[in-house]
Amino acid sequence: MQISIIAAKSDNNVIGKAGGLPWSIPADERFLMEKIRHGYLLTGRKSFESNQGGTLFAGRQFVLITRRQDYDPGPGGSIAHSVEAGIAYARAQQAEQLWILGGAEIYRQALPYADDMYLTEIHTQIEDGDAFFPAIEPADWEEQWRVPHPADAENEHAYTFLYYRKRPSVSH
Ligand SMILES: NC(=O)c1ccc[n+]([C@@H]2O[C@H](COP(=O)([O-])OP(=O)(O)OC[C@H]3O[C@@H](n4cnc5c(N)ncnc54)[C@H](OP(=O)(O)O)[C@@H]3O)[C@@H](O)[C@H]2O)c1
Repeated sequence: MQISIIAAKSDNNVIGKAGGLPWSIPADERFLMEKIRHGYLLTGRKSFESNQGGTLFAGRQFVLITRRQDYDPGPGGSIAHSVEAGIAYARAQQAEQLWILGGAEIYRQALPYADDMYLTEIHTQIEDGDAFFPAIEPADWEEQWRVPHPADAENEHAYTFLYYRKRPSVSH
């Protein structure tokens, strides 16, 4: 099973503020929806309940990470009580692809298990962010490609799509 992280972060590593995304980049939302079209999804409980929750998970199979015993994630959803258990659950469902959708707590704990990573850098500094992308060990990850885009009428900041693969020498 391929395990892929997908995230957007500002130049100062912010991924969230007050439970939501602190920018409007529709091109990145389309990129995300296109990428995650196939496969199983894994999310933290807080991200699931944030604005993204409604659209991303409708009609999808996903596993939600929570410490709560009685959480009902709704149709298509299952719960697991650790990232490791969530990954094991997706594997047991014979998923070929697992998308790690965050947020910050989940990215940090899933990083050791990820094979690759789609990262959108949003070229702005966000003040007062409260959720951050974890520090990446540059030696562990090999940049495969990057595609920069300028800001335009629709997208309020310039942004760059990046794709990294974990170096084969890095153990899980
Ligand atoms: N820019 C992006 O790409 C992106 C993507 C996703 C989210 N976000 C943003 O990130 C922010 C949310 O991130 P967050 O870090 O606050 O929350 P999160 O990672 O989405 O969820 C945290 C919750 O996950 C559960 N959890 C985490 N580790 C666990 C473990 N080891 N065992 C069991 N349960 C565990 C807990 O749920 P319980 O409290 O239910 O026990 C915890 O409160 C929001 O602002 C959101 O908009 C940004």
